[in-house]
Amino acid sequence: MDIFREKAGLVTGAAGAIGEGIARQLRSGGADAAVADRDCAGNEGAAHLLGDLQDSGYANSLPTAAFHGLGGLDIVVNNPGVNTRGTPMLRTGFVKRGFDPETAVTKLGRTVPLGRIAEPEDIADVVVVFSSNAARYARRGQRRKVRKNEAV
Ligand SMILES: NC(=O)c1ccc[n+]([C@@H]2O[C@H](COP(=O)([O-])OP(=O)(O)OC[C@H]3O[C@@H](n4cnc5c(N)ncnc54)[C@H](O)[C@@H]3O)[C@@H](O)[C@H]2O)c1
Repeated sequence: MDIFREKAGLVTGAAGAIGEGIARQLRSGGADAAVADRDCAGNEGAAHLLGDLQDSGYANSLPTAAFHGLGGLDIVVNNPGVNTRGTPMLRTGFVKRGFDPETAVTKLGRTVPLGRIAEPEDIADVVVVFSSNAARYARRGQRRKVRKNEAV
């Protein structure tokens, strides 16, 4: 099913794990995707928009650049954020939280309702649901928060 047929999307942080997955999902659903990152020359995309999001000139120009590069813009996924708090990715971070670094991912997986931590594709699929035509009824004028232990 071409759930993004005739859509155009911009994905920032597109060279990273989650951004790459989101851009791939958009393309496979039929969308034209513009990819933005500091360096995303190696990523597939109908338009490559390189720059630093902390440069407000670049950040503010992105939607217009994507619009011109794709001939339209329907979806914007602003993927890289500042939320690194509470994500224990370093060995020391795991130790601090009482996990054995060698088995941390398995142990951490048991602490979430689904029994495993997410893969980038799991996050990309959430974006697909809320940005595609498949959510035509659910998303009208509504906001969704995706948080730990919170049903969506
Ligand atoms: N992976 C996780 O476990 C996890 C958990 C919670 C939140 N997040 C958040 O989700 C987002 C994506 O995660 P990910 O795992 O794909 O990260 P990642 O590090 O693999 O990718 C992030 C991408 O964003 C780009 N980027 C970062 N700052 C930028 C800037 N100022 N200008 C341009 N590009 C910039 C990087 O170059 C990189 O390609 C991040 O904000 C991360 O903090 C990730």
